[in-house]
Amino acid sequence: MAKKHVEGAAGFHHHYPKLAVIVTCHAQGRDNAMAVAWFSSISQKPPLIGISIAPKRYTYELIMESKEFGINFLSLEKADLVAGTGGCPGREVDKFERFNLEKDEALVTSVPILRDAYAAYECTLFSSYTIGDHEWFVGEVVATHYDEEAFTSTGHLDPTAVNPALFMGAELYYSTDQTTKRHLERAQYGKGLK
Ligand SMILES: Cc1cc2nc3c(=O)[nH]c(=O)nc-3n(C[C@H](O)[C@H](O)[C@H](O)COP(=O)(O)O)c2cc1C
Repeated sequence: MAKKHVEGAAGFHHHYPKLAVIVTCHAQGRDNAMAVAWFSSISQKPPLIGISIAPKRYTYELIMESKEFGINFLSLEKADLVAGTGGCPGREVDKFERFNLEKDEALVTSVPILRDAYAAYECTLFSSYTIGDHEWFVGEVVATHYDEEAFTSTGHLDPTAVNPALFMGAELYYSTDQTTKRHLERAQYGKGLK
């Protein structure tokens, strides 16, 4: 393997793939949705998840106002909705109308939950931080919606039932329907590699 060693972020794309999700929100009498690849689970107790949103997004304004957001997980088959909601500004476009987005009822918040999602979280704003050129919104997960058939009895996502939309950057999406599967027990592997 010929490795390159360069200073700086070198395009800042070497950390992909990342799951691309749709963040939804509701304020000012409007529903909105946008694609987000920069997000992360943060804490288990309480269950916290962070999303990185540029301040110029309409979503930023709506979350700042409503202090709530939804995170919707979609399959590769539905990735056109990720590209669609990530390809137009909610200030000018009603994305729910443009993309015929159907909603499931939220349990705790007023955020729209996408019917096309195989899983979704409702979050209330826990805290937020301006970091670099993005806002890191930390949400507490207060409700979960999921398709039971997408998950195994052990709670794992079933890759034979759903292919999550993996974003590679540069408008490329991959599936996870690979034949290679490795079950690696951390307790056993932590003792050393044979
Ligand atoms: C796959 C994908 C991932 C994206 N990830 C982010 C992200 O993590 N943070 C962000 O601020 N914008 C991200 N964007 C850009 C926004 O989704 C895009 O600017 C969107 O139109 C903003 O919508 P809004 O103005 O209605 O909020 C992403 C776009 C795509 C297509």
